[in-house]
Amino acid sequence: MPFARISELPNHVGQSVTVRGWVTHLRSSGKIAFIVMRDGTGVLQSVLVKSQVTPETWERFGTLTQEACIAVTGEVKVDARQPGGHELGLTELTVIGASPLDYPIQPKEHGVDYLLDNRHFWLRSPRQVAIARVRNEIEQAIHDFFYGRGFLRVDTPILTAAIGERSGLFSTEYFEEGNAYLAQTGQLYGEAAAAAFGKIYTFGPTFRAEKSKTRRHLTEFWMIEPEVAFNDSDDNMQLQEDMLLFIVTRVLERCRAELKELERDVTKLEGVKGPFPRIDYTDAVEILKKKGSAVQWGDDLGAEDEALLVEGHATPVFIKNYPKEAKAFYMKENPADPRTVLCDDCLAPEGYGEIIGGSQREDDLDKILHRLREEKLPEPAYDWYLALRKYGTFPHAGFGLGLERTVAWICGTPHIRECIAFPRMMHRLKP
Ligand code: 4AD
Ligand code: MG
Repeated sequence: MPFARISELPNHVGQSVTVRGWVTHLRSSGKIAFIVMRDGTGVLQSVLVKSQVTPETWERFGTLTQEACIAVTGEVKVDARQPGGHELGLTELTVIGASPLDYPIQPKEHGVDYLLDNRHFWLRSPRQVAIARVRNEIEQAIHDFFYGRGFLRVDTPILTAAIGERSGLFSTEYFEEGNAYLAQTGQLYGEAAAAAFGKIYTFGPTFRAEKSKTRRHLTEFWMIEPEVAFNDSDDNMQLQEDMLLFIVTRVLERCRAELKELERDVTKLEGVKGPFPRIDYTDAVEILKKKGSAVQWGDDLGAEDEALLVEGHATPVFIKNYPKEAKAFYMKENPADPRTVLCDDCLAPEGYGEIIGGSQREDDLDKILHRLREEKLPEPAYDWYLALRKYGTFPHAGFGLGLERTVAWICGTPHIRECIAFPRMMHRLKP
């Protein structure tokens, strides 16, 4: 008997197939019984008629429990009332793996801490499956976007000697070499690669020992970091906009069922169109003050300020050219206002906050050395990075897209802990 996944059943109408998966609901009237199961591609109802199956099969139905792993065999019938549009007329039932009645997740309200403790099972719920599918589609869209534009994907190291960002570091002993740090960013390597290949992107895990317990911080998250030779800050924002529009269009095309499961208001995503506003930091501070924020020129913008700035905008918003002190050492000084740097934060609409940080890079050796010293960073660890400014320095720009924050925005999920299979947070290392 051919095996089929639930999503493939439209190709098997009128045929007998075997489907394997996990029980979600059971119901019986004594003469007729129903098994609803899930296999990761959809849900399927099977019908057993007592008079039409063997006594052993009917008895076996009686032993089933929620989450038992089973195989069902029978004819595929069209039934518009069923979730996937099909039903199975069961003739054979096999139990692959029984599941005791105390399955940790029951159809009742569990607190989120409990669900996170049971993340290995929580992943099976329809909402979590939908989020994971949207994430997967976003990842694929990103690869397709960059591949289509002739970017080379470069995999950068996770164990590093240099520090990329200002946030906390995880360190570990590294043989005779002293401390190694888990990469906070692949950017510095991306810059070196841009001079070798022109246009590159990285796609990998990044680590920040951040003691922040917010809805948008993880200690391990995935970042996509393109780096492009000869792009300036304006080109850089255009690339961010093109990429985000590509992602949103793709998810709307291919993830309708998932967005419905998530009860996402898709009109919000359909309203995302270019061009995205580009607001100067200095103007943003004035807007914020008028809205009652206590922000002062020179401060980085917090989550509340970011939410105020996107109010009334249907699309993401760029805030550009922040004060030097608020940003990392590698950002290029703004020739029009040397107190500031040529950078941008891209803020998602609906209050999801910063999803991208980007900048043109400082390509002047003296200036970047000066900034490195101001930030009291260990020069020897950066010798190779600085040398990129000595041998054939070049204008270049890039950015980092936080994958989980992007997934949270697209899915309409308030907290990013649901946007990665096994979240790592300050108080969570298990499962
Ligand atoms: O703004 P960040 O710190 O920028 C960089 O790391 C640059 N090196 C990127 C570059 O120019 N190549 O981080 C970029 C993005 C943020 O906008 C956010 O979406 C995400 O990474 N991010 C986090 N996501 C989850 N948890 C955290 N703790 C995050 N920190 C940053
Ligand atoms: Mg940032």
